[in-house]
Amino acid sequence: MIQVAILGHGVVGSGVAEILLTHKESLQKKVHEEISIKKILDLRDFPGLSYSDKFTKNFEDIVNDDEIKVVAEVMGGVNPAFDFVKRCLEANKSVVTSNKELVAKKGAQLLAIAKEHNVNFLFEASVGGGIPIIRPLNNCLVANDVDEIAGILNGTTNFILTKMITESMSFKDALKLAQELGYAERDPSADVEGHDACRKICILASLAFGKHVYPDNIHTEGITNISLEDVAYANRWGGVIKLIGDVKNTGNGMLDIFVAPMLISEDSQLSSIDDVFNGILVRGDATGDVVFYGKGAGKLPTASAVVADIVDCIKHLNARKYLFWSDCDGSNVLPYDESVSAMYVRANGSIKTAQSVFNKITQLHRENAPENEIAFTTNEMKIKEFNEKIKELKENGVEVLNTIRIGDL
Ligand code: HSE
Repeated sequence: MIQVAILGHGVVGSGVAEILLTHKESLQKKVHEEISIKKILDLRDFPGLSYSDKFTKNFEDIVNDDEIKVVAEVMGGVNPAFDFVKRCLEANKSVVTSNKELVAKKGAQLLAIAKEHNVNFLFEASVGGGIPIIRPLNNCLVANDVDEIAGILNGTTNFILTKMITESMSFKDALKLAQELGYAERDPSADVEGHDACRKICILASLAFGKHVYPDNIHTEGITNISLEDVAYANRWGGVIKLIGDVKNTGNGMLDIFVAPMLISEDSQLSSIDDVFNGILVRGDATGDVVFYGKGAGKLPTASAVVADIVDCIKHLNARKYLFWSDCDGSNVLPYDESVSAMYVRANGSIKTAQSVFNKITQLHRENAPENEIAFTTNEMKIKEFNEKIKELKENGVEVLNTIRIGDL
């Protein structure tokens, strides 16, 4: 029998307990061992559950228990999760986590501690919820040099954008619904401001390119400025607006990495990924495009990935899985000004002024647009050059309402 512990009994933690209990027999057949939950850490009381006797409020009960070999951290946040995970690894326990903030901010350090103690630190659930992406990137695609990873990495914002696109639902109502369905973070600004997607693209970039990418070093935009007007213009342009986490290998040791809303063509494989679903496009030099698709948030999809990592740790109790990247000081990130993109602009003002500032633009139209409203797309240029032109537009009396990247995905 293998004893495991769960740190946190929220949405994901309760899902992990549920899967371990409801799938006990099938998991036992697959692992050839019984997996038993010995302790669950939570400050709240959970009377009336079939496993209410497992709860403790004291982390020391877990870290000091030598029978516990694998710990699932599903609390979220960096504090106290970092300290708890570090101490479990130092106590020679393997740790699995769904905590993308922890992995994005402390991954290099925790991987080094796991290596030092000859245990495993796995985090399949930290990106894409129930979608297998960490293991495929680390194992199945290892023969490739990855050119680009672009993903719809946040279920809440994809749900909101889908409701705005298909039902003209207001941003506020769609967010409320996403929260009720258990998709959103405790603080939904992490979803709508792009920070959750940022953490996930940082994890994918660190893994694919071997050096830690810290969230603070990358340009991050959310969807709070996206309006139904932008949605209508995107439709006329021939696509949709999606929040994309993107990392490209520039080939000189630098990564062009950012999170931003993007207009993507209806021909893109990512354009039809709707609702809470996530989709991750990996461009390998040998495979070409590979797309991973599935539920990126929610109790059981995320718990499924956590339990898979628990099983993997149990199968490798005395062996290390090769999952590693080294630390880096941010010198691997291309300054955002140097990033190149075609852009969409919506403004109040004269299209002639826009034409003279940008030289070449393509005007977009929508039904019932106010007389003064203009929208257009530009050619590709560096963000630095684009921002200079936007400044010039404003100096010439144009009121810029929104600007959005155009993706080639
Ligand atoms: N809030 C996250 C999302 C949960 O909406 O995708 C899964 O990480």
